[in-house]
Amino acid sequence: MKDVRLFAENVNKRFVSNKQEIVALKDVSLTIHKMEFVSLLGPSGCGKSTFLRLVAGLDQFNEGQLVLDGKPITGAGRDRGVVFQQYSLLPWLHAWENVAFALKKDTSLGKSEKKELAHHFLKLVGLSGFENHYPAQMSGGMQQRVAIARALVYKPSLLLMDEPFGALDAQTRREMQDLLLQVWEEEKCSVLFVTHDVDEAVYLSDRVYVMSARPGSIAKELDIALERPREWDVQLTQQFTEYKREIVTELRSSPARK
Ligand SMILES: Nc1ncnc2c1ncn2[C@@H]1O[C@H](COP(=O)(O)OP(=O)(O)OP(=O)(O)O)[C@@H](O)[C@H]1O
Ligand SMILES: [Mg+2]
Repeated sequence: MKDVRLFAENVNKRFVSNKQEIVALKDVSLTIHKMEFVSLLGPSGCGKSTFLRLVAGLDQFNEGQLVLDGKPITGAGRDRGVVFQQYSLLPWLHAWENVAFALKKDTSLGKSEKKELAHHFLKLVGLSGFENHYPAQMSGGMQQRVAIARALVYKPSLLLMDEPFGALDAQTRREMQDLLLQVWEEEKCSVLFVTHDVDEAVYLSDRVYVMSARPGSIAKELDIALERPREWDVQLTQQFTEYKREIVTELRSSPARK
């Protein structure tokens, strides 16, 4: 158990909406190890975002256990960085200020140190030279790079990403996948990546958890034993297709929540 980063056991989450109870998550158990890249995949409404929000400490679960680096999760914390589909940058701040904003409450760092850190992480995501651009002056892919830099700037042990590339065009999406793999290998953090794109999950991950809806639970766990560092043409191999087949077969047996 020494190298376990996130341990989830029988996590249940229910919502009450219009006096009706919705069981969003039923007995969800999964493990993420240190430096592991894990994807959570499943039909719309199966509870992927709900689970990610629980791990982020943005919402509370009903029963079960969620433990990060040996400590129960009780709220949000700087040991987790979060990237959502919408870039959610502050439009009136420069790129570097958006990144440094995440360090706002950190009194141990001076302004110049925060600026230096922001520049370092912008460089890591390939945005050297764009530090003084406003979000509106950047493309969607560039804005998402800023959001990734902002999530990494306080060196979280677990990076949580909820369909981070869902709003990007196919070409930019592929570039961002490769960038993310580079950044992840550099930072040596663990990643929990939510997506509904089967190719993306297989290409990026060490392990894929497939969720089923009604109620949301883990239907399948699949280790992805493809070589690292990953090259794009691994997607043309038979092994890659086999992984996809296993996942798609599982998804086809589990319709989306209506
Ligand atoms: N705040 C809420 N109040 C009531 N029900 C909610 C709330 N948040 C989520 N749900 C319900 O919980 C279930 C899971 O939703 P969730 O957003 O986690 O799904 P998802 O897998 O992320 O879907 P998608 O792929 O469309 O993003 C859905 O039935 C949803 O309607
Ligand atoms: Mg979602």
